[in-house]
Amino acid sequence: MAGKNTRTIKPRIREILSRKLPPELVSLLPRHWVQIGDVLILPLREELLPYKHEIAEVYARVLEVKTVLRKGWILGEFREPHYEIIYGSDPVTVHRENGIFYKLDAARIMFSPANVKERIRMAGIAKPDELVVDMFAGIGHLSLPIAKHCGAKVIAIEKNPYAFKFLVENIELNRVQDRMTAYNIDNRDFPGEDIADRILMGYVIRTHEFIPKALEIAKDEAIIHYHNTVPEKLMPEEPFRTFQNIAREHGYGAEKLKELVIKRYAPGVWHVVVDIRVFGK
Ligand SMILES: C[S@@+](CC[C@H](N)C(=O)[O-])C[C@H]1O[C@@H](n2cnc3c(N)ncnc32)[C@H](O)[C@@H]1O
Repeated sequence: MAGKNTRTIKPRIREILSRKLPPELVSLLPRHWVQIGDVLILPLREELLPYKHEIAEVYARVLEVKTVLRKGWILGEFREPHYEIIYGSDPVTVHRENGIFYKLDAARIMFSPANVKERIRMAGIAKPDELVVDMFAGIGHLSLPIAKHCGAKVIAIEKNPYAFKFLVENIELNRVQDRMTAYNIDNRDFPGEDIADRILMGYVIRTHEFIPKALEIAKDEAIIHYHNTVPEKLMPEEPFRTFQNIAREHGYGAEKLKELVIKRYAPGVWHVVVDIRVFGK
């Protein structure tokens, strides 16, 4: 995802920009970036902002992308990025990964390079006869690989209408209409009970609030891929302990099968996923 051969690219970018920028700023140029399709997301320090358009133009030319975004924050219930367009005009792109096409607006929809291992893990996780419910589908980040590569049936729930629009397009782009159905609702309003063999809870910060709904949707012995952000000092007990406590309060048992660290979320805080089998109906 870091784009082309960075060993030759970085010196070229620096060489071109050293002719345009004050010398003390050249060493502050970003050495890392994220490329999603033909859109580049560039972290830019404050000191570089007066030159943001010149810098973005050079990165765009050398890396051959149509649009450059300045990396900002990802905020709110919909986990929306707030990224400014600093070169080009069109942030909508199609990113190809592991045989899947992901169409998205990279300025307003998150697509984390650090989650790539989990997207690839999902491509081999389910059996074709399973029904999988993705409670936080986004544009199909985790559930397109299941529908495409495992052949399982998927119900994908996404509350944000803008992300939902791309989810629907991605289902068609990847030709999985026969096994993937999308709902533009709050997952807590999803009416299915006792139906899912597997549930994806790819969300952070407040994922525990949705555990009772996941238990309602789950069949006996279903597997839940439970993501959350956890302060390092509470690991490895958390986040499974909270899941188990909430499950018990609702009359369910929970068994931890596996735990993986996805990425560092903030200083001292990790994004983790726990695979949990639930019992008790
Ligand atoms: C952080 S994104 C993650 C996408 C994907 N699950 C992944 O892990 O890569 C979470 C998505 O959940 C959606 N979302 C948040 N609350 C929701 C809710 N109550 N019901 C359905 N979708 C929700 C957001 O709009 C966002 O698109």
